[in-house]
Amino acid sequence: MNDDKALLNFNNASVELPIHRPTLGQDVIEVSSLGKSGAFTYDPGFMATAACESKITFIDGGKGVLLYRGYPIDQLAEKSDFMEVCYLILNGELPTQAGKTAFEKKVNDHMAVDPIIENIFKGFKKEAHPMAMITAAIASLAGLYHDQTNIKNSSDRMDAAIKFVAKIPTLTAMCYRHGKGETFLSPRKDLTYSENFIYMMYGKASDTDKPNPVLCKAMDTIFVLHADHEQNASTSTVRLSGSTDTDPFAAFAAGATALWGPAHGGANEAALNMLHEIASVDRIPHYIARAKDKSDSFRLMGFGHRVYKNYDPRASVMRKICYDVLEETGSHELEVFKVAKALEKIALEDAYFLERKLYPNVDFYSGITQSALGIPSRLFTVIFTLGRSVGWAAHWNEMLSNAYKIGRPRQLYTGYTKRDFVAIDER
Ligand code: CMC
Repeated sequence: MNDDKALLNFNNASVELPIHRPTLGQDVIEVSSLGKSGAFTYDPGFMATAACESKITFIDGGKGVLLYRGYPIDQLAEKSDFMEVCYLILNGELPTQAGKTAFEKKVNDHMAVDPIIENIFKGFKKEAHPMAMITAAIASLAGLYHDQTNIKNSSDRMDAAIKFVAKIPTLTAMCYRHGKGETFLSPRKDLTYSENFIYMMYGKASDTDKPNPVLCKAMDTIFVLHADHEQNASTSTVRLSGSTDTDPFAAFAAGATALWGPAHGGANEAALNMLHEIASVDRIPHYIARAKDKSDSFRLMGFGHRVYKNYDPRASVMRKICYDVLEETGSHELEVFKVAKALEKIALEDAYFLERKLYPNVDFYSGITQSALGIPSRLFTVIFTLGRSVGWAAHWNEMLSNAYKIGRPRQLYTGYTKRDFVAIDER
């Protein structure tokens, strides 16, 4: 903060509002003192409101830039891996080799889940949506660790973050295997994080070899692309929930509920379903026309973003991974990939999409990629949960490491003024 102030004339008085200068991005006018002058701000959907200060992730939606702790997403996707990115996001700096090895060992040591968690899955029908299962499974971790977690202690907070990141692949694989009626597999000590995930999903207890490296690398990069995305709906939910000093796993479970919706983490499932429905290049014009028709609620899923008004930088990395996975697996999704590329081209030449700055987002190609990796569409948002676990944990930890207040928005009340109760026989 420096001495700059914004002046607001209200109720015949001038109110001085401090202006904060960020290291990157737009200036922020602090309005927290406004309530004392008899007014609140009104900003549905937080279109112009910063809810917190953060040092974790920066997005320039106009330029299509995404930085984790200052490092561009394309560099991290190409040169780093998910464990290193987790360390970076949680600790603020890239690890040394020794630091990375120690971090990976700690995560590996925590990957197994208490056998009692199996009962959580057994309480669900096989057909239950996996997001319902993962939300319950995350919340159940609070039942195991609540009494040993002092959220005011930084080392306890880091411990909770590592447990969450470590156990989420195991829980995700349990969602998948429960849906198929298969027994669960425990993580192996000789495998990396992403290898363990692929093994626990598709392996057999007798396996001793390592899973396919191309598929493990693709999965790992998908996790890197989803690791954080600043104050989106689910992360904001984790912060709001965490601001009450609730248990961290309860706050992370709240994040998962927010991620489930098709406007957020559920869009990849919706995008793949849409591409299957379109099915062939000659049907694309019909769907483009529907997306533009305001009397039709249909939208091009995987297109548009609240923040990106340019190509989502994650989408170009995802398109490349998609191609690699399709080549490796020879998946039936190759036809759908062709439809997606043609749809992208047509939409990006159409005035409707250009004027509204609607570009493919990360979800446009992630559904095809995951499907080619053998992941059923209902599990896509669980995979997103897995990748985002580190972001939620880092934001929760960042909030609790600094001064914070319970999140409590105000409202613009437009209901009845005070009126007297009317007895039921007089209504
Ligand atoms: N297809 C057709 N029209 C669209 C689309 C779309 N996908 N997205 C936005 N529009 C139009 C919208 O109808 C509106 O038009 P008009 O100004 O004529 O009324 C204009 O573009 C602005 O849309 P908006 O809904 O006000 O924008 P928003 O910032 O509130 O919504 C969004 C962002 C992501 C919810 C929206 O673009 C959308 O529904 N996209 C499809 C769902 C999707 O892919 N979601 C994944 C987001 S990325 C994953 C993540 O980071 O969580």
